Amino acid sequence: MKRVKATVLATLCLGCIGSVALAHSGVKNPAVLARMENMKSIGAGMEVLSNMVKGKVAFDAAKARAAAGDIARHSTQTVALFEAPETDPKTEAKPLIWERFDDFTTKAGATETLAIALSQSLETPDDLNAGFMQLGASCKACHRDYKD
Ligand code: HEC
Repeated sequence: MKRVKATVLATLCLGCIGSVALAHSGVKNPAVLARMENMKSIGAGMEVLSNMVKGKVAFDAAKARAAAGDIARHSTQTVALFEAPETDPKTEAKPLIWERFDDFTTKAGATETLAIALSQSLETPDDLNAGFMQLGASCKACHRDYKD
């Protein structure tokens, strides 16, 4: 597989990675903050992978597997962190989540499954590129419906 182009990356999951550092200022509801922090950690793992895909950082299979493992571990917590319909003026979570919690759960599971597989099987730059694309699509599938 060819190196993934930056333009492809940009359309993949806008808002998934980077520039979220200030998103939490002023969040009052601790339950909302906890789920945001969890997503932020998922985003941080994704950024590690993204930097390798783009060639900003040298490919390192062990580091990439570890980042995928971080994403998997945090994805495992997603459903429990979102189960209660908590809200906050700063939240980007759409109320639709709690009308379609089964679907939300399925989408969280899809990201988790992909991340676990990648954390166990990633060996080559091609594995990284392919896995990154799939993972990014899984983030986007949920954000498209459930995140502002
Ligand atoms: C099952 C649904 C779902 C999946 C899958 C998902 N997200 Fe999210 N994500 C959300 C929701 C909902 C929010 C908004 C949370 C809020 O503001 O209360 C969010 C917020 C975020 C944020 C902003 C966090 C902040 O700082 O406030 C980042 C970054 C993020 N997600 C990254 C990712 C990445 C990267 C993936 C895939 C590896 C991913 N997400 C997969 C639902 C999901």
